[in-house]
Amino acid sequence: MIKIPEDIAPYLEIKDCSSFPISRYYVTKDMDDILKEIVKMHETAQKLQKMGISYLNSTILYGPPGTGKTTAARYIAYKLKKPLAKINFAQLIGGEFGTTAKNLSAIFRFIADIDCIFLLDEIDCVGIKRGTESAATGGELARVTITLMQELDYFEDHKLKVILMAATNRIDILDEALVSRFYQHQLKPLTNEDTENYAKKFLDDVGVPYDEYNIENYAGENSALTQRNVEKDMVRCIAEWLNKGGDFILNHIG
Ligand SMILES: Nc1ncnc2c1ncn2[C@@H]1O[C@H](COP(=O)(O)OP(=O)(O)OP(=O)(O)O)[C@@H](O)[C@H]1O
Ligand SMILES: [Mg+2]
Repeated sequence: MIKIPEDIAPYLEIKDCSSFPISRYYVTKDMDDILKEIVKMHETAQKLQKMGISYLNSTILYGPPGTGKTTAARYIAYKLKKPLAKINFAQLIGGEFGTTAKNLSAIFRFIADIDCIFLLDEIDCVGIKRGTESAATGGELARVTITLMQELDYFEDHKLKVILMAATNRIDILDEALVSRFYQHQLKPLTNEDTENYAKKFLDDVGVPYDEYNIENYAGENSALTQRNVEKDMVRCIAEWLNKGGDFILNHIG
């Protein structure tokens, strides 16, 4: 159990991911490639450092809502058997005026000593293009963006082994200098084949008997669904099946 200092405790959570529900997590080809790359770079880090090469293991996942960005960080933490540390940006920027950048720095310096996956989820809460901020925030967000970049550079210069991940569905509004500090990966909606395989994996795992033809039809007729769409459809249809009895039928809410 890692004890978070009191001054930053409201803005940071550190979770153990050992109970991640791996048996119903569907690994797409993209996700598998991302994991492999993160692991490869993690394992090579020491060798790079011996060669005097500064490098920060940092990945930004971007893509539409529900494509599994946040869950991907939990999956990676589970696979690497490391805790997942996550900043609560909404809380952080909602704090006392003028303190955001200082608190952000304090969080980074604390995380620097911890062997974890460090997730900057919904980084667009803070890392927006400089010059696009509304007057109401008085330049606070621009200061935070700069602090964020300085802290990333600190991590890189000090050869820290933290694995950094960020997630956003608004990469278009993020500061380019900030984004350029990450390896960028786009998460896309599921292919029809992935939709079918994900649904079957989930239903097998929860023990709902299904007709293969129904699942194939559902996947074939509904293109570009996200994991969130499919999960919602399954939960709703399972609830209906539990209430009404009869055969389980999966369909899309639309
Ligand atoms: N690979 C996966 N296998 C099974 N379920 C998944 C997978 N990825 C995501 N999910 C489920 O889909 C839902 C949406 O995922 P998640 O919240 O990670 O998406 P997101 O991209 O972070 O969305 P947002 O942009 O809204 O934050 C979650 O409830 C999660 O349980
Ligand atoms: Mg998310």
